Amino acid sequence: MKDVHDPMIAAADDWRARDLAVLWHPCTQMREHPQALPLFPVARGEGAWLVGMDGRRVLDGISSWWTNLHGHAEPRIADAIARQAHTLEQVILAGFSHAPAVELAERLLALAPREAGRAPLARVFYADNGSSGVEVALKMAFHWFHNRGEHRRTRFIALTGSYHGETLGALAVGDIPLYRRVYAPLLLEALFAPSPDAFGARDAAAAEARAHAAADALAALLEAHPGEVCALILEPLLQCAGGMRMHHPAYLRRVRDLCDTHGVLLIADEIAVGFGRTGTLFACEQAPGGGIQPDLLCLSRA
Ligand SMILES: Cc1ncc(COP(=O)(O)O)c(C=O)c1O
Repeated sequence: MKDVHDPMIAAADDWRARDLAVLWHPCTQMREHPQALPLFPVARGEGAWLVGMDGRRVLDGISSWWTNLHGHAEPRIADAIARQAHTLEQVILAGFSHAPAVELAERLLALAPREAGRAPLARVFYADNGSSGVEVALKMAFHWFHNRGEHRRTRFIALTGSYHGETLGALAVGDIPLYRRVYAPLLLEALFAPSPDAFGARDAAAAEARAHAAADALAALLEAHPGEVCALILEPLLQCAGGMRMHHPAYLRRVRDLCDTHGVLLIADEIAVGFGRTGTLFACEQAPGGGIQPDLLCLSRA
């Protein structure tokens, strides 16, 4: 039973009221607050735990929307952020350079998925968050063909059940009705290939068969749009926001080969699966034959 006289509970209630008076929360039906889903005001984080203003401890089982890989308030990270803020907190990157930007790019490129016989990924472009990273990748793919004079390549292929973010370009290559339905009239028209989703597959062989069936459908889609597609975007191995739907790694190899055959760039969105979340540093590494290398790799959240 809630003790309304407990000062910590009263403080948490006060915060809930102040919050709802001034904030709209993301991906939220605000009508559900405060009754059906009372907000949980957080005082601080400790490793995998969140400590509420009312004193309750909650295990952060979704690592704060998959962003928190190393635990909350991790002292080494907090110290490094503080040191950097005392040295240089921000500078325009157009026309200027600084050590953290260059050193991080060098380290990312050294870690990026690599495939024998393919020139390694060679440049980093910093965006503001996951969705902006996807926007940049879509624009870069288009721009690459534009620079080559291939002006017919204006279309993108995405997978059913996919999620790539909330900005208009990212939303256009996503397929979750809850997020895109209202904005559909504003979105560029992507082509959707069936997801290789292995949900409910009896065993690995059944999952692999689904991967090949989906790849065959993708091949047919590419053949139906010759010279029109600039890039295909996918979440390697796991469609997260789409319901944690996993697929067999054979699909990645087939997609890489099909993109090469049709001269289409492959964008791997590893924003949710990168940095060890599927068991290898990047999910692309699990494709048969030693892994695949995308043409553009979107990273975030680590
Ligand atoms: C696969 C994938 N791509 C892109 C995004 C968008 O990232 P952000 O929320 O940082 O804009 C997400 C977010 O969950 C994601 O899961």
